[in-house]
Amino acid sequence: MTLLCRMLNLRVTYHRQASAALDLSALDITAGERLAVIGESGSGKTTLARALAGLLPETARCEGEIRWTSEMPPQPGRDLGFVFQDPSSSLNPVLTVGEQVAEGARQHLNLSWSQAFRHARDLVASVGIPDPDSALNAYPHQFSGGQRQRIAIAAALSARPSILVADEITSALDMVVQAQLVALLDELVRQAAMTLIFVTHDIALASGLADRLVILKDGRLVECGATAQVLERPQSDYTRALIASHRTLSSRSLLPGSAE
Ligand SMILES: Nc1ncnc2c1ncn2[C@@H]1O[C@H](COP(=O)(O)OP(=O)(O)OP(=O)(O)O)[C@@H](O)[C@H]1O
Ligand SMILES: [Mg+2]
Repeated sequence: MTLLCRMLNLRVTYHRQASAALDLSALDITAGERLAVIGESGSGKTTLARALAGLLPETARCEGEIRWTSEMPPQPGRDLGFVFQDPSSSLNPVLTVGEQVAEGARQHLNLSWSQAFRHARDLVASVGIPDPDSALNAYPHQFSGGQRQRIAIAAALSARPSILVADEITSALDMVVQAQLVALLDELVRQAAMTLIFVTHDIALASGLADRLVILKDGRLVECGATAQVLERPQSDYTRALIASHRTLSSRSLLPGSAE
């Protein structure tokens, strides 16, 4: 297992906020792992994802360090793909799907526009958009919410990044579409051996995808461990409550293969 990065005493405070949005003493990320960041609204998930990606807004003050094992921190759009919670933040409404999915490849893979468009066509097909040729010439609003997130994933993968950060990409979608998107991510990440940071408030969704779970509460790390270990032997009351509340809401078991 190769270390990808180590966060140390990472503390993020937004302008005019009394308390830190994120306060982590230490967290390591291994290259090629699928890490889920779980927590309720306001727990600091997006702050963690953005800090990692170097995409914090200017109003955020970041202390501590993120030590990358690579020579340079990953460059967003090239080495690191980011898919936002709201597809309208990932996709530009006035550009065609083709232009947006081709852009990263054109910029970072040294492809001409026509080569980049062929690459975009393959990506759009690989994320399961029907009729990819006509999809390239369409605009984001012509697609459903789930399809827009698929297109946003394709755009994030344009430059073949080694890290993909998916920030609550399923939260606005119904359960069937959520499961389809998770299956898609699973396949794409496996094929390209990418590191995945999957941000969600849904511990069940996370458990189906991630090797390791990080549980945040009020900007602090409550618990962190291998998925099965956290589900079978949660160390904190908060994690136990998260698991229990899920069990109350759904009859699905969190652990694959275990009958309830
Ligand atoms: N741009 C900002 N300016 C000021 N405060 C912010 C900003 N972004 C986030 N915060 C605050 O920082 C804390 C953590 O927010 P963050 O968005 O990281 O949480 P989250 O876990 O992603 O929540 P959600 O599930 O709602 O997306 C919250 O208290 C939030 O109000
Ligand atoms: Mg968020």
